[in-house]
Amino acid sequence: MRKKLIVANWKSNKNPKEAVEWLDNLIFNTQHVTLNTDSFEVVICPPYIDLFPLKEKCSMLHVPCSISFGSQDISPFPDGAYTGAVSARQLKGLVSYCLVGHSERRKYFAETTGLVGKKIDLLIASGIKPIICAQTKEEIPQNIKNYSYEQIIIMFEPASAISIGGKYRAEDSMIIEETVAFWRKNLGPYQFLYGGSVNPENCQNLLQTSIEGFVVGNASLDASSFCQILKNV
Ligand code: PGA
Repeated sequence: MRKKLIVANWKSNKNPKEAVEWLDNLIFNTQHVTLNTDSFEVVICPPYIDLFPLKEKCSMLHVPCSISFGSQDISPFPDGAYTGAVSARQLKGLVSYCLVGHSERRKYFAETTGLVGKKIDLLIASGIKPIICAQTKEEIPQNIKNYSYEQIIIMFEPASAISIGGKYRAEDSMIIEETVAFWRKNLGPYQFLYGGSVNPENCQNLLQTSIEGFVVGNASLDASSFCQILKNV
């Protein structure tokens, strides 16, 4: 059985000082709880500026579970004259995963499924695993067929559930289960995650479905509520 991925997506939150404080708090909070560390891997997706200090801090501490790093986005271009962009090759070795096509990227930065496809090619060429975020099957680029099921992760994120502050309803797990079953049947046996207002209260219910992990936004910003989610996995 694959390990569940519990991805913390910090979005545009936390400067480097706040990021390392979060890590200290996570370690403090996990001291008094038993974590089923064989069953999950944590992936922290901080803003780029926090990656290096967090990784350095992580290597100096005794962390309570397996922690990997991811980025929240990547340039659709290779290295070169693309002001403000960070290329996949630049992140090689610094992150293991990268979110692509998040609904907020599509909404606020006009990201298209075509661009998501380009990012996937560049990431895989740099040995970074893309986590494709999609609300519908149509938002998943066709070029995933060029790769094996193990090279890509897919996240179902109904936009209506993103950042609504945990107003998760019981019937939502039915929709999640149905969608993921449909995608699995049509696309193949990828690792499918779910994202959208996951919190310590609803995560156990969500784990009754066949999803193999979460992307946690808001509830990941506070180390103690993130720790509660880990405890429930
Ligand atoms: P949220 O974010 O948990 O705040 O809804 C989830 C996501 O961005 O995928």
